[in-house]
Amino acid sequence: MSSDVDDLLAAAKAAQLNAHAPYSHFRVGAAVRTSNGRIFAGCNVENAAYPQGACAEAGAISAMCLAGEREIVAVLTVCDGEVIGTCCGGCRQRIREFAKPDTPIYAAGPGGVRATFTLGELLPHSFGPDHLTEFQTER
Ligand code: THU
Repeated sequence: MSSDVDDLLAAAKAAQLNAHAPYSHFRVGAAVRTSNGRIFAGCNVENAAYPQGACAEAGAISAMCLAGEREIVAVLTVCDGEVIGTCCGGCRQRIREFAKPDTPIYAAGPGGVRATFTLGELLPHSFGPDHLTEFQTER
């Protein structure tokens, strides 16, 4: 189990090195593991037009989709400082698209995991793809 997390942490820390965070100076790396055992990472990419910035998790999920993967079994984010850098609300929803309520989400600092949550804890009673299935009819 801990080596599982070690792999995610290493990938997220490597991604964090490439964070583009000249405005917040809050550098984030994220890594997702898929059901096929593959790991995809991303970093936050800020923009001078602030709302156009992207979270690290969004980058990791884009890389995962690009590779044809659709099932997340674990997520880890890493940031500096002392905080527990849990995923923002928007990223919880992004993860929700590809994960289950019991999917672990690790919040790490440079030295390792600081807190562990499940997606269901971070985003209870959430809305997801399953809510749409009964409305999807062939046209
Ligand atoms: N950030 C992430 O990359 N992921 C999160 O879940 C929380 C926030 C980034 C966005 C922005 O570049 C910086 O952290 C400060 O909000």
